[in-house]
Amino acid sequence: MVVDPRLGGCPVKRVVFDESTIAARVGELGAEITDYYKDGELLLLGLLKGSVIFFSDLVRRIARPLQVDFLVASSYGQGTESSGIVQLVYDPETRIEGKHILVVEDIVDSGRTLSRLMGVLQERRPRSLDVCALLHKHVATELQWPVRFVGFDAPHEFLVGYGLDHAENFRHLPYIASLM
Ligand code: IMP
Ligand code: MG
Repeated sequence: MVVDPRLGGCPVKRVVFDESTIAARVGELGAEITDYYKDGELLLLGLLKGSVIFFSDLVRRIARPLQVDFLVASSYGQGTESSGIVQLVYDPETRIEGKHILVVEDIVDSGRTLSRLMGVLQERRPRSLDVCALLHKHVATELQWPVRFVGFDAPHEFLVGYGLDHAENFRHLPYIASLM
């Protein structure tokens, strides 16, 4: 069991990725991204709310000009099962056409959210369109889009922390932990 006052007594089994492991990998991703985009305008689109902590750390490790905006897509209704219907609740105001677009996601599970979203973004004629995910469960059967940048391969467990939530809790943990 993890002992941390942030948990308010909730049983959290184990830390899967600790703070320094995450920071090191985010630094590497920043360097990979810097290297990949040699020219042109780059817009990073963070998928709220899960990517927010990862996103803010990542953009500071990219050593080239860039812009930031956010997307809010909802695919989960009340439950934990994906409904398969993706709604853009907040649409970025920043121009997409002609720019390199990098969508930043917390974790790829079924890949449904991303698949639908990428179709919507592709219609706006970006110069390129790619995904950077902190975590990848590699169970995505529905994802037709390659996830160009991946932080870590994730175990098939329910993870919380560093932006990831369970019923909106635990997003503020500085590490990633397994709930059960
Ligand atoms: P997908 O459409 O099934 O790929 O759903 C991805 C979204 O589900 C992520 O952006 C998360 O918000 C959520 N999700 C998937 N797996 C986990 C997990 O282990 N912990 C917390 N949220 C998760
Ligand atoms: Mg979530």
